[in-house]
Amino acid sequence: DPRYQHCQETAKKCDYASCISLPLQDDEHTFGALVIFDTKPNAFGKEEATLLEELAGDLSYGIKNLRLQAERKQETEDRLMLAAVTEQTSDGVITFNPGGTIEYVNPSFIKLCGIPASEGVGVSVHNFECSKRNPEFYQAVKGTLETKSSSVGRFVNKDRSGKEHDIDARIAPVFDKSGQIVRYVVTVRDISQEVQMQRQLRQAQKMEALAALSRGIGRDFNNILAIILTHSEVGIIADSEGTSAQNSLLLIHKAALRGKKAIKQFMTINRQGEQSRQPVEVAAVVRTSMNLFSRTLPSTVKLKMDVTPDLGQISADPKQIHQVLMNLCTNAKDAMQVAGGILEIGLTNMEIPIERQHQYPELSPGKHIKLTMTDTGHGMDREALEHIFEPFYTTKGSGKGRGLGLSIAYGIIKNHGGAIDVNSIAGIGTTFVILLPQLEKVSSQQEKML
Ligand SMILES: Nc1ncnc2c1ncn2[C@@H]1O[C@H](COP(=O)(O)OP(=O)(O)OP(=O)(O)O)[C@@H](O)[C@H]1O
Ligand SMILES: [Mg+2]
Repeated sequence: DPRYQHCQETAKKCDYASCISLPLQDDEHTFGALVIFDTKPNAFGKEEATLLEELAGDLSYGIKNLRLQAERKQETEDRLMLAAVTEQTSDGVITFNPGGTIEYVNPSFIKLCGIPASEGVGVSVHNFECSKRNPEFYQAVKGTLETKSSSVGRFVNKDRSGKEHDIDARIAPVFDKSGQIVRYVVTVRDISQEVQMQRQLRQAQKMEALAALSRGIGRDFNNILAIILTHSEVGIIADSEGTSAQNSLLLIHKAALRGKKAIKQFMTINRQGEQSRQPVEVAAVVRTSMNLFSRTLPSTVKLKMDVTPDLGQISADPKQIHQVLMNLCTNAKDAMQVAGGILEIGLTNMEIPIERQHQYPELSPGKHIKLTMTDTGHGMDREALEHIFEPFYTTKGSGKGRGLGLSIAYGIIKNHGGAIDVNSIAGIGTTFVILLPQLEKVSSQQEKML
């Protein structure tokens, strides 16, 4: 037989003269062979072959069963391990079948959602006490059953005593090998402590910012009042001596004007300044502003502009938009003062689709105009980046910066329904990105009707 050619040499060395090979098979495929050699030629006749075929069949059956048993044992061990983990985990877990009947509830779920143990297995998710007490949770479960897809949500769960817990929930279908949904798994995690800590942190940050603001305003007004007090005294003395108090009055007037300007700036930060909104071509405002600004740039700084044509309009106060641009450009210029560099301004359209709105929590979905301003200046480290929008935060030293430019820009952009963000790498440069909601185009037909 040519199929045994390759082992003929070895067989001869052992004085084997004949051999029989029988397949070991399970239902689907051959998984081995039973090979028997004999020193006599033609040792395996029809009778022997039939007997040995039976033996191979029995062996196949035995081996298959042994393997199945081993697999089952492993499966049972895996299942027990999984069950132990699910029972022990601090996350709450329930499973329900595609019809909505609850199959399993772990102890953490009972504890987290405050349900009696009897109010679980066998109950329909539609009548589940937890669903009745927490409509948001029930809607999420119902939504998953209807759409047959996973859902993730955060909601406030009331337990039996009425105590509220912040809960992170995940509801997902489980599929079998054929792709059919066999059950749904709900996992819930109590994140009350995390939420509480975030709240405290936000509150602490607010208080810190407020303290910095009060310190800054206090310093500003102390300086102004010092000038007014000193020069009013000088004026009073001059007047009593019959000499002119005009110089003192002029200085007092100047200090009062400084105070007025400072108040106007604080009002802008607090978004309470008076506004005159109108449809504005941002591209035109940017061109005019940059035209003015480019004259103040040293020759070591190159200005580049990339503006998409037909950008559309925004509803804005053009003076305030100009102010934002000037504040950002001045910072960029300062950052490139020593080494020079490139200031690049880009204007383009950007649509925020509903499904990506969560990435821009301060904005509404729809068309926006995106302005980017990139400089190749000294950049900022992470510590600085966390504070730059706070009023009176400055790294420029006394007399050079008041730390108001960016907080004013922030206030203006927020007030226009937009968002401002920053990215920076120390030693490389900085990019500011501003998004402003675009005005819907008014067709010429509508214009006529107006
Ligand atoms: N483009 C930039 N590159 C590097 N650092 C920047 C840039 N823009 C802002 N900063 C940092 O952010 C700080 C705050 O900026 P902001 O414009 O609010 O205040 P300021 O420029 O220091 O003072 P003011 O604008 O009131 O004159 C700056 O002091 C600087 O450290
Ligand atoms: Mg500035």
